[in-house]
Amino acid sequence: MPNSIPTLYLPLKNVGTIFKTLQSQGVVIIPNYANPQQVAHLNHEFSVVQSGIEGSRLIPLNSGFASDISRFEIDKNILPTTFEFFDSPWMQKLSDKFWNDKTLLNDHIYAMEETPETSHVAQDLHFDVTKTLKFFVYLNDICKANGAFECVPSSMKLTETTRKTYGSEINYDDRSLTRHHPYTDDQIIPVEAGAGSLIIFSTDVWHRSGKVQSGYRRIMRGHTRIAQSTANKRETILSKIKRKFT
Ligand SMILES: [Fe+2]
Repeated sequence: MPNSIPTLYLPLKNVGTIFKTLQSQGVVIIPNYANPQQVAHLNHEFSVVQSGIEGSRLIPLNSGFASDISRFEIDKNILPTTFEFFDSPWMQKLSDKFWNDKTLLNDHIYAMEETPETSHVAQDLHFDVTKTLKFFVYLNDICKANGAFECVPSSMKLTETTRKTYGSEINYDDRSLTRHHPYTDDQIIPVEAGAGSLIIFSTDVWHRSGKVQSGYRRIMRGHTRIAQSTANKRETILSKIKRKFT
């Protein structure tokens, strides 16, 4: 297993490079992807989400804050930077290439702030029951102590084998199969990076949300897994989709 996270730097040369890295290692980081002004705007809009807006849904959390924003249901004038950030043409191109289909890009965005008391199921190393492409931006400087995202690069091969072996037994009711792995702590790499850094990953890579020891971790994370072809009426399908936390 590689012992570091594949890193690409701005300006982005081409989507093909990101795609190839995702194929081989399942995860890529682009340090400082969002500039300080964008980060400030995203942080401001995070507080707007915290105040409660139509098109977002509060996710119960024992400590901290979590909200599921339906990007096609929100008024984009309320969250203009968020909407634009997760509507990037290169992300759309990458997503369509990743899924080999036209996709609804980042139709759901999760805004989360975690504290030392925060506890949830995504803090266990796991792969998501439903494979998803995620665009994950740090909104404050993150290191291991304040809950860096952690993953095992290239571990999606184990996930593929597990999916072939267990099929529909992999579900949200029994999370044991999505958490059964051979990895040791030294193989689980924390993504330590500054505010504005963007992590792109397939959730077939084994990953977890690091536990905050001190301070806090604030992020936004776009989820893409729906083909446009399955959405005859986008509003209808979006309202029917039952979202799960991980
Ligand atoms: Fe997950």
